[in-house]
Amino acid sequence: MRVASGAGGQRPPTLTIVASGNGASALPVGMRLLRRGGNALDAVEACARIVEADPTDTSVGRGGKPNVLGIVELDASIVDGTTHRVGAVAALVGYLYPITIARAVMERTPHVMLVGAGAARFAREIGAAKAQNLTASTRELWVERLRKAHETPASVRRRARLLPVVRKTVREERGTVNFLAIDGAGHIASAVTTSGWAYKYPGRVGDSPIVGAGNYCDTRYGAAACTGFGELAIRNVTAKTAVDRLAKGIAPVEVARLAVADANVLDDAAFNIVVLAADGTHASATNREGRRYCFMTADMEEPVTTAREVVR
Ligand code: GLY
Repeated sequence: MRVASGAGGQRPPTLTIVASGNGASALPVGMRLLRRGGNALDAVEACARIVEADPTDTSVGRGGKPNVLGIVELDASIVDGTTHRVGAVAALVGYLYPITIARAVMERTPHVMLVGAGAARFAREIGAAKAQNLTASTRELWVERLRKAHETPASVRRRARLLPVVRKTVREERGTVNFLAIDGAGHIASAVTTSGWAYKYPGRVGDSPIVGAGNYCDTRYGAAACTGFGELAIRNVTAKTAVDRLAKGIAPVEVARLAVADANVLDDAAFNIVVLAADGTHASATNREGRRYCFMTADMEEPVTTAREVVR
């Protein structure tokens, strides 16, 4: 596959990592890795692991908000934009680094995605790091949300019918972190990891592990990843559509706007996208005020966090 080498094929690729706003603290680690000649796949995985292990981010990994039964179910995917190898896990319980398990699915199995008990079994088989992902504070938040729905942990676990409770427990809480990177050889990779929609129905899978929906990249054209209401990214196949638009020569800023406009046609729920073109240009759009994304290039000492363009 042809690898981008900057405008006109003359300049070396600009080392770049772009992420959702909650990924900013991880960018220096990813950039250090790229500066030392590391590849994009290693960089996005390293960045994702930092947020997965951070208990203060309640939308990802350890400390992520649980499903309605108080179980933290994690989704993640990783894409190699040069080989189009992909790996994903969904509804994974009890492990610290879902992104690394997704990468192992990609590199060590004949499959692209493992879910639920099978994903956990595989994680155990490869000796992945275990974790109790429900922290004291996210447990407290869960109990409080149940209380507002006139339930308790014991009552909800006894229920035969969860749907009426889920209708009361779910609100607009669907954070996620994503990382898109270009390395020194011009290769592009992308990683997305999340605890999904807070207080969801058990087994609900969002867009983050669905390659083409919440995560996609192609080294020839660029990368895109979504946060927000994942069901919309699945219905619109948003990330693949965005990369297809980059392939047609549409600028990242317009690609990002179009993706949010597509989501707005389906629903008025929160939706965000980050887009990175193979030449290092990037953009982000959202349909909510105050949402941010971040980026870092080789010449920067620190990441910059900036506003996403709002598309109504
Ligand atoms: N975008 C994350 C989710 O919907 O699960």
